[in-house]
Amino acid sequence: MPPRKIIIDTDPGQDDAVAILLALASPDEIEVLGITAVAGNVPLELTAKNARIVCELAGRTDVPVYAGCDRPLNRALITAEHVHGKTGLDGPDLPDPQMPLSDGHAVDFIIETLRAEEPGTVTLCPLGPLTNIATAFRKAPDIVDRVQGIVLMGGAYFEVGNITPTAEFNIHVDPEAADIVFKSGVQLVVMPLDVTHKALVTKPRNDAFRAIGSNVGIAVAEMTDFFERFDKEKYGSTGAPLHDPCVTAYLIRPELFTGRFVNVEIEIQSELTLGMTVADWWGVTDRSPNALFVGEVDADGFFALLTERLARL
Ligand code: BDR
Ligand code: CA
Repeated sequence: MPPRKIIIDTDPGQDDAVAILLALASPDEIEVLGITAVAGNVPLELTAKNARIVCELAGRTDVPVYAGCDRPLNRALITAEHVHGKTGLDGPDLPDPQMPLSDGHAVDFIIETLRAEEPGTVTLCPLGPLTNIATAFRKAPDIVDRVQGIVLMGGAYFEVGNITPTAEFNIHVDPEAADIVFKSGVQLVVMPLDVTHKALVTKPRNDAFRAIGSNVGIAVAEMTDFFERFDKEKYGSTGAPLHDPCVTAYLIRPELFTGRFVNVEIEIQSELTLGMTVADWWGVTDRSPNALFVGEVDADGFFALLTERLARL
């Protein structure tokens, strides 16, 4: 089988960085057509910079990186420096990128790529707020049917929220964008907190990254060292959840994950539960299923895959 063509839409973020590295380390399974940056964990200028830092760390300056939307569709941007640090990529000391941003807007790159490639051959992989994807769907509705699928990190149901009591960060930041994507009719695979909170970087797992001994292995270990202090304090867990790499790991080894194909809708009106992903887990409505809502991961298999692949870079 030829590698699956993907566009990674992202707001790096240490866990976004690991997700990107995993994809770039897996050319037999994944062809990264481009990386599109969106405002989220930190403002756009930093996410667009961090995406290039990650490409350079992987030695892949050939991957085009585009800057996209700098704010949610209808709202002021909420950022997460309290988790990711001031730069969004705090932890390792990585050099400023030399590679330039690609010319043009990320939304236009998404549109043009979906129009240029054979229909049904490009998968979108959003790792941040869904602003770029929703803007592309609104601007060019003809591309929606051309998307092979969307595998995204966002939402929470049984695990409830991390930025509000009921909402997960990526969906809460731009709920209107999420609503457009979840209603688009494109088949979704959703990695909510329910599963990502089971992908914890324990000390032995982080030691395994560090033991790779390469720039990539050491940088990933240092990113995780930084990133985990927040979650350990908040949840009393043994390490940080590696949210976004669940997306790229799913593309390589889907059998590591299990979930249910259910209806998922986004709350966009209530102030109290804004951005909640309302998953009809028990099938109590007649709303059509639109998403494989993932709940379980073989965490040992996931970390074995990550360590093996990161060692290739
Ligand atoms: C999501 O929000 C960001 O902080 C992470 O990068 C991840 O995409 C987790 O809620
Ligand atoms: Ca992210």
